[in-house]
Amino acid sequence: MKYIVKNLPEYFKFQEKALKDPERFWGAIAESFQWKKKWDKVMNADMHKADIKWFEGAELNITENCIDRHLDERGDQTAIIFEANSPEEKAQHITYRKLYEEVNKVANVLKEQGIQKGDRVCIYLPMIPELAYTMLACARIGAIHSVIFAGYSSTAIASRVNDASCKMIVCADGSYRGAKEINLKGIVDKALEDSPSVKTVLVVKRTHCKVKMKEGRDVYLEDLTQNVSVHCPAETVQAEDPLFILYTSGSTGKPKGMVHTTAGYMIYTAHTFANVFQYEKDDVYWCTADIGWITGHSYILYGPLLNGATTLIFEGVPSYPDHNRFWAVIEKHKVNQFYTAPTAIRSLAKQDIKHVEKHDLSSLKVLGSVGEPINVEAWNWYYHHIGKERCPIVDTWWQTETGGILISPIPFSTPTKATFATFPLLGIQPVLMSDDGIEQEGNLTNGKLCIKTPWPGIARTIWNDHKRYFDTYFSAYPGYYFSGDAALRDPAGYYRITGRVDDVVIVSGHNLGTAPIENTINEQEIVAESAIVGYPHDVKGNALYGFITLKREISEQEKEQLKIAINNSIADQIGPIAKLSKIQFTVSLPKTRSGKIMRRILRKIAANEMENLGDTSTLLNPEAVQAIIVNKKD
Ligand code: WT7
Repeated sequence: MKYIVKNLPEYFKFQEKALKDPERFWGAIAESFQWKKKWDKVMNADMHKADIKWFEGAELNITENCIDRHLDERGDQTAIIFEANSPEEKAQHITYRKLYEEVNKVANVLKEQGIQKGDRVCIYLPMIPELAYTMLACARIGAIHSVIFAGYSSTAIASRVNDASCKMIVCADGSYRGAKEINLKGIVDKALEDSPSVKTVLVVKRTHCKVKMKEGRDVYLEDLTQNVSVHCPAETVQAEDPLFILYTSGSTGKPKGMVHTTAGYMIYTAHTFANVFQYEKDDVYWCTADIGWITGHSYILYGPLLNGATTLIFEGVPSYPDHNRFWAVIEKHKVNQFYTAPTAIRSLAKQDIKHVEKHDLSSLKVLGSVGEPINVEAWNWYYHHIGKERCPIVDTWWQTETGGILISPIPFSTPTKATFATFPLLGIQPVLMSDDGIEQEGNLTNGKLCIKTPWPGIARTIWNDHKRYFDTYFSAYPGYYFSGDAALRDPAGYYRITGRVDDVVIVSGHNLGTAPIENTINEQEIVAESAIVGYPHDVKGNALYGFITLKREISEQEKEQLKIAINNSIADQIGPIAKLSKIQFTVSLPKTRSGKIMRRILRKIAANEMENLGDTSTLLNPEAVQAIIVNKKD
């Protein structure tokens, strides 16, 4: 692949080329992939209309690029290492040849079950090899996968399955998460009460727990894979045919089904993986994210496999059976590149350092961070204790919507600086906007983080709602992609992401819209109104604080019960990660004269920054602020 950066001058040289002639730049990179037919035009994009196309006219199948292409040279090389939840269970080493066979078998099963090109298949699986097989099997036959994180509730599944009218769900009987065993099939059964589009449920046996199988709808995958061929022709798809849908929380209303298409996503994830992790042949790469998030799609599955890499899939959690699990796995599999989230780093940094010190981490070359701003303490701990001051940290900024990493150091080329994501990757042009839409020139400035020119990996639309796609990302600053984050630029031109500027709160690296949580709370009969804000938390990054007004006075005891009921319904309808850490009942919420809740003030109060609330005299009800402050518990 062209344009893999090896030193800083080369980075600047390549970046100049990429920005001057993006079509030539990305076209040259695309040459090293396998196409059934080459493109007519590299890029055809109008950011004013949110109409973006890459490699138009090209025909391909991404699985030929992830798998078939590598068979001659590295058929016997490990594609996937599977490390199970329990360290007692033997790790699996799945070669590229075995991956080819397993993917093709599942692809044949999908076809037999009536799945055709363009159909949507929902995947609700734990982190087991079948998750990778099923996603790639969909891609093999041109079906669109919609992976739902296997920690989501029935309600969350139903709304996503219905939004995309999925014909099938692939799930497991159960899953292991640390010491817990979860009945996934039971959750799916409940979701399916409200999801009429689903005709078939394929069940993967994992925990062998007892499940109800509905006649005519539910089948065990292993019963079907026994009688199918290990070859399945790779369907021809167009460059801009959707590869997958992945839901992300919006600041308002229902989740957004981000649509990623085939060729551009392929080129972008492959190229950024190669640059950001500087993967070398025979390295072992491990990203600890769940494949249910974009990080897993792009940098556990597609990016690494497109590079013929060995990628590790870990089913478990960092605290089971002990807090040394991550370090034990690094030692066991001699991991070279390790990519995790600040929330994991913070929680592990709190544990006894002996957990780290008893393991040999000398295989590590590159450390990565993703999902939220990494604070300086966490950065330093990671750098000193895990990387032993030897391994550069790549603080990678990107989003579900961007498909791949946009801002990150290139290890061994870009000097790192704690808390800075540093430079844009090749072909990416970040700009910082003032509120009135003026590009902030020069270094040492800040603003809303936008991207000025299209890149191949950007999501093309929101499933069934192009208007919402346009409104959310392209309307604030016409002609620019608006990320929803703010950032600053230092004198060297390095970027530091300072956080969200909309009503999305990132809790333990999970992107949560506050509106759906408020809607859930407001369903309680006694609740009049609610406002959720994030406040700083030393492990989770942010935690949720709910300010709630009630329709009538109730006793203290009833209030305690109501808090529990509220969190139970949030866990049920959205997921346990969205539970509130603090709830304060209050007589009223501060509002503007037009009746809008002043979340800015609530955010300050939740963070205990009462001294700089700003001018509250223009509020409709300034006394609400005082009442909240006086009654705040901690
Ligand atoms: C939001 C996107 C794409 C990876 C997983 C999250 C925040 C992500 C960083 C970083 C500061 C970061 C942003 C972004 N974020 N990476 N390195 N430094 N903030 O994907 O769920 O779509 O969330 O995560 O606020 O907008 P996501």
